[in-house]
Amino acid sequence: MNSLTQADPYVKQVTSLGDNYEVVAKEDIRNTEGISLVKRGTRIDSSLYERLVLHKLLRPLDESLSVADMVSPLGLVVDAKRLLASEPALPQVVDTRSIQRDLLPPLGEIRLEHPLAFKLTVCREQSIERYHHLIRVALIALYTASRLRWSRDDVQILATAAIFHDLGELHLDPSLFDRSRLLTFKERRQIYTHPTIAFLILKEFSAYHPRISQVVHQHHERWDGSGYPAGLAGDDVLPAARLLGAAELLAVIGLERDKTGSGLFSTVDVLNLNTGRFGSEFILPLIEAAKHLDRDLPVSSSHGAVNRTALSVRLNLLKEILQEAKQVDMAGQEEVADFISSQLQRLAEMANRCGIDLNAPAELMTYLGDDEQALSEWDVLVGEMFFLLQNTVREALRRWERVEMPARDREPLDAWLRHTEMVLHSTDIYGHPR
Ligand SMILES: [Fe+2]
Ligand SMILES: [Fe+2]
Repeated sequence: MNSLTQADPYVKQVTSLGDNYEVVAKEDIRNTEGISLVKRGTRIDSSLYERLVLHKLLRPLDESLSVADMVSPLGLVVDAKRLLASEPALPQVVDTRSIQRDLLPPLGEIRLEHPLAFKLTVCREQSIERYHHLIRVALIALYTASRLRWSRDDVQILATAAIFHDLGELHLDPSLFDRSRLLTFKERRQIYTHPTIAFLILKEFSAYHPRISQVVHQHHERWDGSGYPAGLAGDDVLPAARLLGAAELLAVIGLERDKTGSGLFSTVDVLNLNTGRFGSEFILPLIEAAKHLDRDLPVSSSHGAVNRTALSVRLNLLKEILQEAKQVDMAGQEEVADFISSQLQRLAEMANRCGIDLNAPAELMTYLGDDEQALSEWDVLVGEMFFLLQNTVREALRRWERVEMPARDREPLDAWLRHTEMVLHSTDIYGHPR
């Protein structure tokens, strides 16, 4: 873990927390040579940042520091109740009767070793949105597990993994999570490390390793093999990790996504389209849950009808990208090529299911005419197709990195992937702000 502390952005978060809160060294903080950098009892603040960040520390900061009003299991329950009270959509997703019975008790029984309680406190104070995300995902995951009648033991593992799942992000540069910014490929690759960072932290504790640490490590792996960091597939992805991923999808799409734009979308549609990525056993209960959310969505948004021109532009772009994909020379790059074609196949299946030819967007627009309902549905579907395409390109780029081959042979696929990623990033793929 010490390797994380070199220029680790987390050090900044901790020292600046000390500017407003009482953060104190509960033991001498030493570097790996044994030299004491900060004496026990010292109050930590930004003035100590340089000293701490320039040395490789003997023990992780979380172990050496204490902070007032640290997150506790009971505190998690209180914060979950607050969140349920302040976000009316959240109790609509989970069956309200199950909140007291199935959702809050496991949160109150999470075992919080001191370093993890400290880290959660840093998260709560420095990154409240992330902290709320952890609680939201935990509540939705616990709701799903209760519907599936998971054992108490499995539920407890799920609750703990959910609360820890994104803590690895605290060790990454906060600017990586600025959604308005176009990330370079190198920056995106850093984001892909967050499950592994959290795994390395958790694996030091017998209370968390391996059952909880592995679930956290796998929370971005997908049933169809499209996830990261290892690209596991099928039963190799732990059920709790898949359930966590599915719960996160509902949290992000149904509760955290900006819904004020002009495009109408349904959370149920999004979940349906993602069945293959998580497995239907976890998606079905969530679809039931999401129906309550969609019930309250306006049938047509306050901004009026779907923008026909924008939809037509997006359909044309989709067609162009798919046609270009067919022409890219992928010879000798089987693994990445297989991945891309299996994902594009899914995209074609989505279109087929609706009886539509993606190669003829003009015909589709004529067919849709002024049918508001149909236009809305297509607006949603096209957004999801772009989303799938974007995920495919990003994941392919990540896998492609590992393939060793001469630059000349890499060129066509490399260029297509990077170009497509740029195009997708600069396109309003949902037809409205996210
Ligand atoms: Fe997450
Ligand atoms: Fe994550």
